[in-house]
Amino acid sequence: MNSKVALVTGASRGLGKSMALKLADAGIKVIINYNSNHEKAETIVRDIKDSGGEAVAISANVTSEDDVKKLVASSREAFGQPIDILVNNATGPQPELSLEDVTWEDYLDQLNFTVKASLLLAKEVIPAMKENQWGRIINIGSEVVELGNPEFSNYVTAKSAVVGMTRSWANELGKHNITVNAVHPGFIPVERHGEVTEDSASSYIEGVPLKRLGKPEDVASMVRFLASDEADFVTGQNINVNGGKTFGV
Ligand SMILES: NC(=O)c1ccc[n+]([C@@H]2O[C@H](COP(=O)([O-])OP(=O)(O)OC[C@H]3O[C@@H](n4cnc5c(N)ncnc54)[C@H](OP(=O)(O)O)[C@@H]3O)[C@@H](O)[C@H]2O)c1
Repeated sequence: MNSKVALVTGASRGLGKSMALKLADAGIKVIINYNSNHEKAETIVRDIKDSGGEAVAISANVTSEDDVKKLVASSREAFGQPIDILVNNATGPQPELSLEDVTWEDYLDQLNFTVKASLLLAKEVIPAMKENQWGRIINIGSEVVELGNPEFSNYVTAKSAVVGMTRSWANELGKHNITVNAVHPGFIPVERHGEVTEDSASSYIEGVPLKRLGKPEDVASMVRFLASDEADFVTGQNINVNGGKTFGV
């Protein structure tokens, strides 16, 4: 995979950081996109370079059309070649809201990441992928699509869109040898979750056949597989990485 370039959105922390590290470890040149966390993004770049890999950090708000255009142009400049692998991972705050409190704006806030940003980015990277007759788009969804968590319909609805969008894009882009898949993580504690109490961890784990919480690396390994040539004949799939808590849509 040495000749490939991957863009991971929202890679300054959480699951995105782990994806960036795993892809770099496979020899892929990685663009670490972030919103505001410059220092964290640069630390990941340094870590990758220290391990002999190649990476650059580029700040961009992926929900802005202008920013997305600049992000893709700067990525091309950074490595002198277009993006081969796009991982739509970035997310903003995810407030849990009852139907009484949630507004259309709250729905749009989530759709801006799951649908708008993914669409803007795909439109920018697809032309070069078609030209090269090789491409990978990996959308990050969530197991909430199957769980239907209450008082979280803003997020559940937006993540549900990832399922159909992935299938439609896969059907449309297959003839160009571009695969499109979605990875749906389970609950995986990252910085933004703060301290996870033993009670809440064990009540979640109760419904997990593999009897543990997931780690960012569990998701990153699936992303790396889907990005690789090993996954050449896999497209349009919605793959859960959640220890078997749900069985697929
Ligand atoms: N962790 C879980 O339990 C879990 C479970 C299921 C699904 N997921 C999904 O997995 C993905 C990653 O989640 P996470 O928990 O790792 O999130 P996270 O730790 O909150 O990280 C979010 C990332 O997105 C970036 N970001 C925020 N707003 C942005 C914007 N407007 N433009 C570009 N980047 C932006 C952040 O950059 P800054 O650092 O600069 O703010 C950060 O790098 C999301 O799609 C999430 O829905 C997570």
